[in-house]
Parts: sequence; structure tokens; C-alpha cells
Amino acid sequence: MLDRYEASLRGLARKSRLRSLSGRAGLDFASNDYLGLAGSKRLAEAVATALANGTPVGATGSRLLRGNDPEHEVLEEKAASFFGAERALFFGGGYVANFAVLTTLPQKGDLVVLDELIHASAHEGARAGRAEVVEARHNDADAVDDAIRSWRAKGGTGRPWIVTESLYSMDGDRAPLDELMAVAGRHDAFLFIDEAHATGVYGHDGRGLAHHLEGRDNIVVLHTCGKALGASGALVTASAVLCDYLVNRCRPFIYATAPSPLMAVASATALDIIADEPDRRERLARLVTLAGTRADALGFKPSGSQILPIIIGDNGRAMALAEALQARGFDVRGIRPPTVPEGTARLRISLTLNVGEDDVSALFDALSEECSR
Ligand SMILES: Cc1ncc(COP(=O)(O)O)c(C=O)c1O
Repeated sequence: MLDRYEASLRGLARKSRLRSLSGRAGLDFASNDYLGLAGSKRLAEAVATALANGTPVGATGSRLLRGNDPEHEVLEEKAASFFGAERALFFGGGYVANFAVLTTLPQKGDLVVLDELIHASAHEGARAGRAEVVEARHNDADAVDDAIRSWRAKGGTGRPWIVTESLYSMDGDRAPLDELMAVAGRHDAFLFIDEAHATGVYGHDGRGLAHHLEGRDNIVVLHTCGKALGASGALVTASAVLCDYLVNRCRPFIYATAPSPLMAVASATALDIIADEPDRRERLARLVTLAGTRADALGFKPSGSQILPIIIGDNGRAMALAEALQARGFDVRGIRPPTVPEGTARLRISLTLNVGEDDVSALFDALSEECSR
């Protein structure tokens, strides 16, 4: 009964692609807790106070039934105003929110154009949705334009949806948002921007790289709460009409227990911290500059962001390097296909305020030694 699963696991092991769960050990060069908020006193105190004042741990039902707590509404109002959108809707996580948006908003007859390196959750949502789906070359607005033109030429009559991350999770590079916006404008298209790795870190006061675009009718944005915000969940920001539509039509929103109201409190507090404590972004920026300089000196291209991929290529070699660094006390993880394209296995160095400049220097000293072995 279990043979085919065992065979599949053996196949993964042969390709150095077998994964297993491991604990948290060593200096944090692996999490997405970019601003160090997950363990911050202010976040912990806000949650403890809410709990002491009677906020329930669980929402106890769907938002459409008894699960709609004031904490959810407070967060959504704060998020809409913080990000500059008409409305916001809180989901249990970014994966489900991407899936929810892409299975609900693009309609039959529409076209979804995905960046080829878009997160797995967007792929899953687009594939499970009703619209036709095509992929366009990474960060290539002309390729998106071409995809829409050729779909129209073949008789496509619905509306195009352009789907991009603003800061790519495995490469740390930025999308050409203004060029994509221009393409969207030319084709009366929606632009759906996943800000998972930019929210809290980039844009005016950490409002994201798409902050200047939010509030327009054709813009839908995803802000995850489990990365720089240090909590969990995700906020979809969009027009009131699209949020109302999601409340009425989005099955992952309707048929699910609402996220914990305590996470709504944590996420709302994180937005306050992000606005009040700009020095966190400044400290992170200094780590990014230092790591970029050190990576460059070793012949690895700096990404210019807190996500710094050290591309190794071979799966086994990338995992061996990650293990060697872990053994020296640095929690650096290797990332292999299918998460990244074949032949681009890498170390994904993630910079967070959970480490300091000395730690970054020590990591690159160790990396230099391990690479020359
Ligand atoms: C770009 C991107 N979008 C969405 C998600 C999913 O978000 P969450 O972890 O909140 O489910 C991730 C998580 O890794 C991500 O990197």
C-alpha cells in the first residue's frame, strides 16, 4: 500500500531532493522575521494584554457566522489606511490568500499572466481557478504585454490579470512594478502584487513597494503577516467592491474558521511598530549593505535586499555547504528544485534583526572558508 510513496521518497533522495523537518538552531540566517518582531516585547505585550482583557484564542467560526471578532475589523481598518487601500480582508495565511484571490477574482474567459518565478501558492490558485493561465519571463514587462496581445489576437475577450511578487522570495530582486502597471493600463488589466517579502521593509514607512499604486480600482495587493510583521496571517488590500465580492464568493474565506483574533491584535500592533520604529528598517539596511559587499567580494551577485541568494547550482553541493555552515552555528538553509529552477540550488541567506553586523561578518568568513575547501 505504501510502496509508491516509498519509491517516490527514494527517487527524491537519489536527486538530493529529499527533505525532512529540522529544529531551530544557530544564528538566524533563515527566517523571514526581517525586523525581529516575532520575539519583540511590544508584540508579546499587546497579545498578553488582549488575552488578559478577554480576547478569545480562537475565532470559533467563519467570519460570516460567529467568527467575526472586533479585532479582525480593527486590523482591517488599520491595514487599509496604512497601505492606502479602500479596504482590507484578513486571511489565515499568505498561501491561502493567494489561492483564495486567484480562484475567486479572475473569471471564466479572463487571462492570468504569472511571472515564471511566482510563489507556489499563486501557481496553485491560478491553476485551480477558472481563467486561462500563461507564464511570462521573469520580471519582463514586455513578455507580459506580448502574452496579453497574443491572447487577444486568438480571441481572448475577458480581462487580463497580471500577477507578480514585488520582491522575489528566492532571489531578492524587485519586480518592475511601474512597467507592469503601464502594461495593465494599456490592456485594462488587473495587477495583483504579492508583497510578502516587502511589507514592513520597503516603501514609505514600510508600506510596501506597491504603496504608490494602492487605492486604484485595478490593484489587488497581498501583505503577509508572518514575515516582517512577526505574526501570522495575510491581508488582501483592494477596492471595497472586490473585498465585498471576496466576502460573498471566496470559498477559502467563507468555509473556514477565521484566523485567531490574537493574531489580528499582533498584526495590528506590528503595523504600529513598523510606523513608529523606522530605525529597525535602517538597521536592516546596514546589514543588507554589509552582506552585499561581502558576497560581492566572494564573487556572488548581491541582490540589494535582505534576501541574498548564493547560487551554487548542484543540489548536493548546496546542501553540503548549508550543513557545513549549520555545523559552525549559522542557520543557513539550502534551497533546491522544485522551489527554485533546476540547476540553481542555492543558499538563501536571509538577513534579519535577529543577528548583528559581527554575525554577518562571521558568516561570510565561514562561507569563504567553506567555499574554498
Ligand atoms: C511570495 C510569497 N507569497 C506567499 C507566501 C505564503 O505566505 P504564508 O507563509 O503567510 O502562508 C510566501 C511564503 O513563503 C511567499 O514567499
